[in-house]
Amino acid sequence: MDIKILVAEMTLEEKAAMCAGSDFWHTKGVERLGVPSVMVTDGPCGLRKQAGESDHLGLNASVTAVSYPTGSCIASSFDRELIQRSGEILGEECQAEDVAVLLGPAVNIKRSPLCGRNFEYFSEDPYAAGEMAAAYIKGVQSKQVGTSLKHFAANSQEHRRMTSDSVVDERTLRELYLPAFEKAVKEAKPWTVMCSYNKLNGTYASENHRLLTEILREDWGYDGMVVSDWGAVNDRVKGVAAGMDLEMPGPGKENATKITEAVLSGTLSEEDLNKAVERVLKVVAQYIENRQPNTAFQYERDHEMARQMAAESMVLLKNEAGILPLSKEKKVAFLGEFAKHPRFQGGGSSHVTCYKITGAVEAAKDLNIVYAPGYSIESQEPQEELLAEAVKAAKEADCAVLFIGITDEMESEGFDRKNLKIPFGQQRLIEEVVKVQKNTIAVIHCGAPVEMPWLNDVKAVLYAYLGGEAVGSAVVDLLYGEKNPSGKLAETFPLRLEDNPSYLYYFGEGDLTEYREGIFVGYRYYDKKDMEVLFPFGYGLSYTEFAYSSLRLDRDSLKDTDSLHVSVKVENIGNRAGKEIVQLYVQDNESSVIRPVKELKGFEKVELAPGEEKEVSFTLDKRSFAYYNTEISDWDVETGDFTIMIGKSSRDIALSAVVRVESTRQYKRVFTINSTFGDIMADPKGQEIVSKMLEKMNLDDIGGEAISKDAMMAMMGYMPLRGALMMGGDKIRPEMIEGLLDQLNA
Ligand code: BGC
Repeated sequence: MDIKILVAEMTLEEKAAMCAGSDFWHTKGVERLGVPSVMVTDGPCGLRKQAGESDHLGLNASVTAVSYPTGSCIASSFDRELIQRSGEILGEECQAEDVAVLLGPAVNIKRSPLCGRNFEYFSEDPYAAGEMAAAYIKGVQSKQVGTSLKHFAANSQEHRRMTSDSVVDERTLRELYLPAFEKAVKEAKPWTVMCSYNKLNGTYASENHRLLTEILREDWGYDGMVVSDWGAVNDRVKGVAAGMDLEMPGPGKENATKITEAVLSGTLSEEDLNKAVERVLKVVAQYIENRQPNTAFQYERDHEMARQMAAESMVLLKNEAGILPLSKEKKVAFLGEFAKHPRFQGGGSSHVTCYKITGAVEAAKDLNIVYAPGYSIESQEPQEELLAEAVKAAKEADCAVLFIGITDEMESEGFDRKNLKIPFGQQRLIEEVVKVQKNTIAVIHCGAPVEMPWLNDVKAVLYAYLGGEAVGSAVVDLLYGEKNPSGKLAETFPLRLEDNPSYLYYFGEGDLTEYREGIFVGYRYYDKKDMEVLFPFGYGLSYTEFAYSSLRLDRDSLKDTDSLHVSVKVENIGNRAGKEIVQLYVQDNESSVIRPVKELKGFEKVELAPGEEKEVSFTLDKRSFAYYNTEISDWDVETGDFTIMIGKSSRDIALSAVVRVESTRQYKRVFTINSTFGDIMADPKGQEIVSKMLEKMNLDDIGGEAISKDAMMAMMGYMPLRGALMMGGDKIRPEMIEGLLDQLNA
């Protein structure tokens, strides 16, 4: 397909029409020019290909596919290779179903655990989210199928999602809400990026030139297509000018007329329209020209992949006295309806029609278990009969496993959660069971954190997240030690919702949502406030133990243009094979700007046999040390010492070392009569020049008995230069200040 020639041959009307889909899921073709139409489909955790009636909310049926663990679950695997492999499988499934673009991954930052769609998102940390998104995209696209990196940008809530205005300051945007997109765009080049529903700082994402052209294309070099979220278009003409290429769903007839009229009247340049059409055609060509029509959907293989992914991702949060893994000899009561009918995927556009669903009861059918539902998924309230039956089963068993969590009504795309509680009926089940059975284990099915006021009453907690259609097998594999848990949390679990940094402003006022907590999202906030949390970011247990040693940096100091190589040894000191997620955090020891205590800048997952030791290494670059400096609109490193921390979690730092980083940025500070003595003295040259003046002022005389010399010096730190005239009396003349400024700024 020669795209330039095609565009030249298209009429204005054909080009305008091309800027929207033909229906819910297809791009438009142009028959007379032989341009075919291709299909796009959700995404991200399995295919939702609707062959019949269409919708974007998961209402109508879709073809049978495999449901994989959702974003928050696979993020806990911290396993780039696994995520990439799952992408490859999804790509093959798309080829088998003739789908050109899979609508994912979704990388929005978890600002609050309330966001109804957190189950689809990876993390509260932008570095982690970006790494995972890049792996996913590389996997899918290696099969010649496109992805859609979504939802761009600052779309961290479902509340009023189509009209809300995310008001985010520049530094927060650059450090928290954009980097996952930036990383994925630069490293994995998604065929498409999906703009979000919301406004960003007053302008809808679908017509936001700054976002879609200046940042995405000019700053990050993106050359792919931007598609609207389904129904995100407000003003289509502005959208084309802003760089939003394809409106979905189609057919967008009125908007095509508006685009045509705008070009004819000169309010929209034909060049902008051509660019949009070229980008749409590029996606069509990329798919059609590399089509692999003989690919088959391998349901059994893919179901096994879903099982493996779930087992690699679930997080063991508590394991008192090594109650897990369970012995197969023990009589175990599986309690809670989720044991039989697990909750394994979220509601909305990511909802998959499953090939087969394996619950824990089925997966454990050959083991010594009894099952009692304990509560009904249909109701939040306790069901006394079910409760009594479960309590009896718990009493008669050697131990009880409670399968609990929240329901589809409580957590879904399209609205936010109201609180972090599990249903009251399930709460009662826990309370009654632990009274009769001291060996109780909780398995939790939920896409995001819940509060656990009952944590001390149970011996173990396995967080299953939304584990995909093979969830039951994965849970049983982990409970009985067929597999060793190796997931760690990619988000903080707060003790209570009220502790979350966005709590005071999350639902905003009307459409206005101000991201007032700024860069202090997730562990960045809890660490800075030194707050207790339920489970920290990066936390997760294993059935074995790991020891860390020999942290080495390849140099003690570097320029910010150099790289730093870090290595550390990790040993499995237990007697089971296991996997450890080694985390690297960077702290800026002293900084003139407000920064988090530490930030994740590396992670590696390593598999170790008992007694085995491996070296894990990381490479850090300027971005690992930098903050976004809004004065220069760029990433900037302040010269000074940084601590490199190697952690088992964000709150369990095993080893650390200090390195000095020198900024290579040449910038000249300009001092004025309003520069404070403190700021001037912080500059070596400034100190030399100004101390002479201070001597002349003889501060001892000024303070007299009323104020000590030290207090006087502290006060002077905040005094602007012009204040010297007032303080110095006759000794200081305006010409002296001018001369001093000349010297300072020379
Ligand atoms: C969702 C997108 C999804 C699209 C198509 C929208 O409601 O926000 O994530 O890809 O529908 O189903």
